[in-house]
Amino acid sequence: MSHSNSPPNPLTILITGASAGIGRITCQLLAKQKHRFILAARSKDKLSDLEAELRTAGVESLAVPTDVSDPRALEALVKAGVDRFGRIDVLINNAGIECFAALDELSVEDIVQTIETNLTGAILLTRLVVPVMRQNGFGRIINISSIAGKHGPAYGAVYGATKAGLIAFTQSLRGELSPAGILSTVICPGFATHGGIYDEIVKATGKKTPSLLGGTTAETVAAAIERAIRKAPPEIMLNFPAMRPVFLFRDIFPRLGEMLILATTLKFLKRAASIRK
Ligand SMILES: NC(=O)c1ccc[n+]([C@@H]2O[C@H](COP(=O)([O-])OP(=O)(O)OC[C@H]3O[C@@H](n4cnc5c(N)ncnc54)[C@H](OP(=O)(O)O)[C@@H]3O)[C@@H](O)[C@H]2O)c1
Repeated sequence: MSHSNSPPNPLTILITGASAGIGRITCQLLAKQKHRFILAARSKDKLSDLEAELRTAGVESLAVPTDVSDPRALEALVKAGVDRFGRIDVLINNAGIECFAALDELSVEDIVQTIETNLTGAILLTRLVVPVMRQNGFGRIINISSIAGKHGPAYGAVYGATKAGLIAFTQSLRGELSPAGILSTVICPGFATHGGIYDEIVKATGKKTPSLLGGTTAETVAAAIERAIRKAPPEIMLNFPAMRPVFLFRDIFPRLGEMLILATTLKFLKRAASIRK
């Protein structure tokens, strides 16, 4: 399927949501291979801290404070990266916000901001980066979705919709861009410790996910991103216990599968939604 040129070394990696959680841990892991980074997020100070940390480790990076929900900021981000490094080899669409609440309790602004940050921003940024990757006949696009994209969570309708969108988006990119050597992977983590979203739920409610639902860690997600750069599989699902058999069961027996998923998740998700009140 792929006609990919061999990967350059070092790689030039553009990552959104680099200032915290999974994004920051991913940069720290990939920095061990001395790649070069274009770091994007809104928090200027946190990005500068990471830039300084990478410099100390002998790794070159460029911090570009960016709101991914702003199309003009995305143009400026890509321009700044290309002006500095001349290329972008890997794009990691990681920036994301959660939106756990009953649908009719969300404001229009909450809904629009979640969609623009999690989905529209990733699509528009990818659209800008693809022509840069085409010039070199090499590219990796890694979209950070969620288990919530595989089955829309109760009280997470908008979040789940954006994450499902990223899964379909990745499938389309693979069909369209693989012949040009640009390979895409979607990563679907379960609730991850050491990342913002899940940790906040646990802190606010004092409750972890039920053991049948389980979860993963930000470090595991970072390692999966590293694997996606090397091997470019279509999709990586990260959770313990494994969720793929559950979704297979749900696809064959939709009503029974839904009952099983709701029995495992509903109480926890209701509690997560209660944080907003
Ligand atoms: N942690 C989990 O349990 C979990 C599970 C499955 C999937 N995920 C996904 O993993 C990704 C990272 O999540 P995380 O847990 O690491 O969350 P996090 O610790 O809250 O980090 C989110 C990152 O996104 C950035 N961000 C948010 N809004 C942005 C915007 N408008 N423009 C630019 N950057 C923005 C934040 O930086 P600024 O605030 O500085 O902009 C931050 O760097 C998300 O896409 C999330 O949906 C997380």
